[in-house]
Amino acid sequence: MPLKIICVVGARPNFMKMAPILAAMAARPDDFSPLLVHTGQHYDERMSKTFFEQLGLPRPDIDLGVGSGSHAQQTAKVMMAFEEVCLTHKPDRVLVVGDVNSTLAATLVGTKMGIPVAHVEAGLRARDMSMPEELNRLCTDAICDLLFTTDALAGENLRAEGVAEGRIKLVGNVMIDTLIKHREIASKRPLLHDLGLAGRDYAVLTLHRPATVDDRAMLEPLLRKLHTIAADIPIVFPIHPRTRARIEGFGLDDLLNKTAAVSGIHVTEPMGYLDFLCLTMNARAVLTDSGGLQEETTVLGVPCLTLRDNTERPITCTEGTNVLVGRDPELLGREFARLMAEGGAVGRIPPLWDGKAAERIAEVLAPT
Ligand code: UD1
Repeated sequence: MPLKIICVVGARPNFMKMAPILAAMAARPDDFSPLLVHTGQHYDERMSKTFFEQLGLPRPDIDLGVGSGSHAQQTAKVMMAFEEVCLTHKPDRVLVVGDVNSTLAATLVGTKMGIPVAHVEAGLRARDMSMPEELNRLCTDAICDLLFTTDALAGENLRAEGVAEGRIKLVGNVMIDTLIKHREIASKRPLLHDLGLAGRDYAVLTLHRPATVDDRAMLEPLLRKLHTIAADIPIVFPIHPRTRARIEGFGLDDLLNKTAAVSGIHVTEPMGYLDFLCLTMNARAVLTDSGGLQEETTVLGVPCLTLRDNTERPITCTEGTNVLVGRDPELLGREFARLMAEGGAVGRIPPLWDGKAAERIAEVLAPT
């Protein structure tokens, strides 16, 4: 009998992680009978549906439609709805990815119901309890029975927390599976031409973390510094809905140059996976507070300046192209100038970030 595995996604960064896992399960129909649950944490077409289409994800079997809310509301709504799903479908296992609220909520429900839960991208630690994702990671890993890791350090983190060796499986990076699969098709997108950037140097900016965008005293000087940088090199800024709402709420709209200027900050709507990959792979540099983008730029060989004080993905600094510049706009300005002058960090691709992580996960999960 194939194993009935409920695979849970909720927010944008989950989609590219789950796509290759579902494909690997679909290739083994005798072993797996997956059911895809979308919690609906992200619901905008540009934050969700586009990704399903472009990544070839199957339509979710069940959509919980929880939407936005406070952390407690969002987590609680997923838990209540997901419990019903588990009662109805009685899965052999639940599989969660990443570190968003939906990841933790589904893990709590499954584990409390006695259903084994596997966590993909386990063991990442920023040592920063003010990050909602850090709490989600810690709690999820503490109670999942199988922990799939992207690198050796993640395994060491788990062992230091007392996790038994048999629960830890080093498999590599599923998000990089997706990047490798779509790299060529993304390179053919007409995006740069459409933006007037073909053949030009430009930088890419993403900001969405509460620590960066929720505090005006942090956000305003950062945007002013980015404006100065953008006088020399255009910065393309696909804007997260949360960030747009904050900038407008703080009355800082004038700091965003919304027209497609040759230089300046060029704001766009959130992009689909392929356009965004096309944008980053051709960029001179990426400036971000994202987690996943630190890994993607490492594999693409594009210099990345991360606007955070810490990272749960230190391998992107030690082996990849990532440099932590913290949240000081002056340091950002200096590091950016250095990058332009010297070319930025040159990295190498970490072991097992080779496009085959999802196949390894399927191999571990398959019935024996
Ligand atoms: C969530 C994840 C974060 C991940 C990010 C990627 C948690 C705790 N955080 O943060 O780890 O990096 O997703 O985007 O789970 N909104 C929309 N449309 C949508 C989704 C959100 O307009 O489709 C707006 C809403 O105003 C919402 C806000 O964005 O309140 C924040 O969304 P939410 O899902 O709470 O968290 P993110 O900031 O996206």
